[in-house]
Amino acid sequence: MTWETVDLTHDEAVATLTVDRPEALNSLNVETLEAIEEALEEAERESVRALVVTGAGEKAFVAGADISYMAELGSQEAQEYAELGHGVMDAIEAFPAPAVAAINGYAFGGGLELAMACDLRVAEEGALVGQPEIDLGVVPGFGGTQRLPELVGDEYARRLIYTGERIDAETAHEHGLVGEVVEDAKSRASELAGELASQPAFALRAAKEAINRSAGGDREGGLAFERRAFAGLAGSHDQREGMAAFLEDREPEFE
Ligand code: CAA
Repeated sequence: MTWETVDLTHDEAVATLTVDRPEALNSLNVETLEAIEEALEEAERESVRALVVTGAGEKAFVAGADISYMAELGSQEAQEYAELGHGVMDAIEAFPAPAVAAINGYAFGGGLELAMACDLRVAEEGALVGQPEIDLGVVPGFGGTQRLPELVGDEYARRLIYTGERIDAETAHEHGLVGEVVEDAKSRASELAGELASQPAFALRAAKEAINRSAGGDREGGLAFERRAFAGLAGSHDQREGMAAFLEDREPEFE
């Protein structure tokens, strides 16, 4: 199959899924999320043994969920959008082979959430990552409130989510958010995926499933709460103002 905004290519047993919407810094609109879901299903049918997830172009991995789409959403639509995003992240997490994110530039909001749903993360020197949703008057809506604390710990996750701070690849590495910082994320991620593809597939899959179960606390409940919170903020003064300010390229004035 082919999609407008997603590419799926193969090199022996390694598939590379590229979010291909560089004119909007690969931000995740509905069409792109649906295409990622279909591409994952195709990769699964083809029994790939490792997956690389990356973004097209030089600038961004994925700059987040699509702000121009979200700007005027009501609660019901925001809930559906969060459910779609969660479905994609859950599908990557449950993908029956390891996924390696090649963070080749900005990974903000839904972009960092996409990277965190992968098993491993390789970041390019110069990449910036963060959960800046607070600046838009909302909360992470594609799993960030649950996966970020799991990766970096409660304190640092709160700092990033409460302040919206964007951090560089080295800082992300110091906090365990990415596994390595390299000159060329795509080629290193492909090399790593190639190594993983040569491992015993059933053992690797069993290890992945076992580690996935280590997610602490009430992860399901946390994810469900996050979807409701994201939906509940749609239509609030601060959400409308935060997203309008981004689209109009000005500072927001929050309540
Ligand atoms: N959604 C929609 N469009 C986006 C976008 C996004 N998340 N990020 C960038 N774009 C668009 C811009 O609007 C711009 O489009 P036009 O050329 O049509 O104006 C184009 O991509 C290029 O972006 P910039 O001109 O802004 O590029 P820049 O180099 O000056 O800045 C950036 C790059 C710092 C990444 C900046 O684009 C930015 O801050 N983007 C938003 C990041 C963000 O807030 N992400 C979180 C979204 S909320 C979310 O993801 C919620 C969730 O968890 C579900």
